[in-house]
Amino acid sequence: MSAFPSPVIHSARLELREYEPDDAGLVLELLGGSEPEALPPGAPSDPAEVPAWLADGASRGRREGTSLHLMMLDSANDRIVGSIGLFHADWDVRSVEIGYGVRGDERGKGYATEALAAVARWVLTEGGVQRAWLTANTDNVASVRVAEKAGFHREGTLRRTGLEDDGLHDQALFSLLDDDL
Ligand SMILES: CC(C)(COP(=O)(O)OP(=O)(O)OC[C@H]1O[C@@H](n2cnc3c(N)ncnc32)[C@H](O)[C@@H]1OP(=O)(O)O)[C@@H](O)C(=O)NCCC(=O)NCCS
Repeated sequence: MSAFPSPVIHSARLELREYEPDDAGLVLELLGGSEPEALPPGAPSDPAEVPAWLADGASRGRREGTSLHLMMLDSANDRIVGSIGLFHADWDVRSVEIGYGVRGDERGKGYATEALAAVARWVLTEGGVQRAWLTANTDNVASVRVAEKAGFHREGTLRRTGLEDDGLHDQALFSLLDDDL
């Protein structure tokens, strides 16, 4: 097994880093706005469960070598604007999936694009990976635009692979290789 290091990545407006045990205040502020898509998968919606998640669950994927959850922290306002994660690490192929979400009141300001470009560059140079990939539902125009603007290459369409509450969606498959940087 291999594993990701715990990075602190800086972009123009963001600090991208792991959720730490003393981040309860930041997370509770975000939960108050009911923004589940801005927190990593597996994060609690119940404020009472936040300390336990921060103490263990938030970093478990990194410890197990499978994933890495990072907050998008607005450096100027000390406020979480979203989350970006690495998933499905394959240490034989040296590939990883990237996923992201931004809180509703911060969308359309370029945060997801800024975070994706910075995290992809980090993982392809320092994270031990040669291929970063992501899928976006073809009708999720914002997510498709984010991948394009961050320089990812569209490889094709996976038909009916995305299951959402309203049913199955086609997904666009994107990738960025270390050679593309
Ligand atoms: C997808 C998401 C992360 C984008 O975050 P963001 O910070 O708003 O993204 P950015 O501001 O970097 O870029 C968004 C782009 O989409 C465009 N866009 C957004 N909604 C759009 C729409 N309905 N039609 C056309 N373009 C749209 C924006 O104009 C912008 O492109 P531009 O700079 O060329 O104008 C955010 O909408 C989100 O969290 N959605 C819910 C979770 C999700 O879908 N995650 C991705 C799963 S693959």
